[in-house]
Amino acid sequence: MRLSLRFVLPLLLVLAAFAYAMVPLVDQFTLRWFVRDLDIRANLIANTVQEPLQEQLAAGSRAKTINFFNRITQDERVYAVGYCASTDSRPLASRTLPAEILCSDLDRWQAPGEHLLHSTQGPLHVAVKPLASEAAPAGQLVLVHDMSFVARRSEETKRYVFYVFMGIAAVVSMITVIIAQVSWRGWVAGMRALLRGEGLLRQPVPQTASPEFRPIARDLQRLVRELEADYRSRDESQMTWTPETLRAILHSELAGEDVIVVSNREPYIHQRQGERIEVQRPASGLVTALEPIMRACSGTWIAHGSGSADREVVDRHDRVGVPPEKNAYQLRRVWLTPDEESGYYYGFSNEGLWPLCHIAHVRPIFRSGDWSHYVAVNRKFADAVVAEAKTRAPIVLVQDYHLALLPRLIRERLPAATVITFWHIPWPNPESFAICPWRDEIVAGLLGSSILGFHTQFHCNNFVDTVDRFLEARVDRESFTVTLGGKATAVRRYPISIAWPPDAEMVGKPVEQCRAEIRQANGLPADIAIGVGVDRLDYTKGILERFRAVERLLELNPEWIGRFCFVQIAAPSRSRIEEYQDHEARVRAAAIRINERFGRGGRDSAPPILLKVQHHEPQQVYEYYRAAALGFVSSLHDAMNLVAKELLASRDDERGVLILSEFTGAARELPEALIVNPYDADQCAAALHLALTMAPAEQRDRMRLMRGLVGEFNVYRWAGRMLLDAALMRRRGRLLEKPATRKA
Ligand code: F6P
Repeated sequence: MRLSLRFVLPLLLVLAAFAYAMVPLVDQFTLRWFVRDLDIRANLIANTVQEPLQEQLAAGSRAKTINFFNRITQDERVYAVGYCASTDSRPLASRTLPAEILCSDLDRWQAPGEHLLHSTQGPLHVAVKPLASEAAPAGQLVLVHDMSFVARRSEETKRYVFYVFMGIAAVVSMITVIIAQVSWRGWVAGMRALLRGEGLLRQPVPQTASPEFRPIARDLQRLVRELEADYRSRDESQMTWTPETLRAILHSELAGEDVIVVSNREPYIHQRQGERIEVQRPASGLVTALEPIMRACSGTWIAHGSGSADREVVDRHDRVGVPPEKNAYQLRRVWLTPDEESGYYYGFSNEGLWPLCHIAHVRPIFRSGDWSHYVAVNRKFADAVVAEAKTRAPIVLVQDYHLALLPRLIRERLPAATVITFWHIPWPNPESFAICPWRDEIVAGLLGSSILGFHTQFHCNNFVDTVDRFLEARVDRESFTVTLGGKATAVRRYPISIAWPPDAEMVGKPVEQCRAEIRQANGLPADIAIGVGVDRLDYTKGILERFRAVERLLELNPEWIGRFCFVQIAAPSRSRIEEYQDHEARVRAAAIRINERFGRGGRDSAPPILLKVQHHEPQQVYEYYRAAALGFVSSLHDAMNLVAKELLASRDDERGVLILSEFTGAARELPEALIVNPYDADQCAAALHLALTMAPAEQRDRMRLMRGLVGEFNVYRWAGRMLLDAALMRRRGRLLEKPATRKA
């Protein structure tokens, strides 16, 4: 209807304007026609009356002539008749002859086009005809016609012209509308056919598209794909990512899909403490990131059951609902023998792959026995995935370097599954990775994934270079896709983050109160400035370098002695590994040495370093973050580092300073931190001094920018982006599986 109006209204207006412009023309034409007719008529009458008139004039009877004229005027059109014998005589005329017509002035009416007289009786036509005869009296016959009928006729004609134009307008409009509707529908149908069935995906041009569209189809599809990507990225940038957003995406994009997470580390560990069972949250970046995701989307999390009371709380399928206070998803535990744990977790994963990928000057150790356990445990996890899958095509999120073989094992057993693998640690350059005796198997195992994610593009590049170097696989650097055995893996960058906003209970306690309580709990003076570091006790975290920086600060700026205390929370980690035991010993020794050097002793003094080697629950950790004047992350190599982001999340008061190692993935996202090289003790000491003396306004400005970024690029976005890509991949896959539908 709207379409019709859009066509018809302008057309009607144009035609009406045209008809309106025609009216004066019609007047002119009709007038000219009628004047010509009246001229002819006047000639005819003159010829007819000439003889009887001349006879009467010859007879000299004026009265008879006037009567004769009066009789002629009984014709409805002839208004008056007159006769002028000469130019100086008075006219002999019917009584109706207008006074304006004078014998002396007859020439006036003989000029071409001068036949009209606008008298008080209305418009009149005046014709002057000479009476030509040798015998009879000559003179001029004046014939006056009434022209009022001309005006009437002209009005009628104008009305008809107008009606005709309106009729034409209506017919033309209808024809236009019909043609427009028919061709518009055809166009729309053509376009729809072109774009239908995820027309944005790479597929043959639909056979339902009209032939005239086919030449442009591919270009159009590409354009729409680009627009879609553009729209998506714009849309995403305007989106606030929350658990609800993630749930909505799962609902709309992956409705009813079966989501399974697999990792070595479990999100909740049940530990027996005498008569009681305690639930622990492990110090793990992986758990920090994935736990809120699982709360948002339910599903099943498969992980190694490592707690002393883990077996006591599971059901007969080895499942337990978590979080304990309000079950939101299922935790399915996988049991490992001590040998398996030793070979797969401590051995191959943490003495081999961990130092290999971190290049933190600790030699990787590769033992064939460890490798056998690694293979066997990966198979065990694959069994668990197959057992937990509710459909033949689940979405499986495989986490980290403990499970590098799992993607391929899943693909072999559940070929329709979408496997998204995320590698939480760095991927080294091909030369470094080449040390691993089973490098080919590791890379091929990972290439069982549909999508393989890293935190940074640098690690994506390293991985693709490694494949290129060691495997017979097709590497497409434009789309960043690797194809092995006909199966493609997309290698993508997904920088991980934390939940945002943080739980209200995490930031519930006021900053002043946190500071006071922490000072009191640790026997620190009331005015002391606190610095904080929170890590697993791992040699990659640069804890020794951090202590060295504190020592250097006190050497260079002795005014901080007794006025600054650095609290290091160090969660015990992988303590069965010799290297970790040595590292812990070195860390403890360094703290003692520095404290002896700069500690003043006495009741009101504080040690420069407070080392707390014990597990802390997340809420306690947040209280330390909130109490601190600065946080120090000095990793020697870290793919991302979520402690840095947590520290920012904890500071809703927009105070405090973050000192961040340039060798973390986080440093690429947070340039407003004080970025340091942890190997450069002087530079780190200067950063500590700067942080302790930084004006509150500058602290606020830096905090605001960094908190803004973490809030925007939070963990829901990280997971949402991967799941959206998986959803797109699945739709594409389903479409390509279907035989192409042809026009009947
Ligand atoms: O950094 C890699 C990683 O798996 C993290 O995701 C996690 O923070 C840490 O290692 C946990 O190590 P583990 O599970 O050995 O305690």
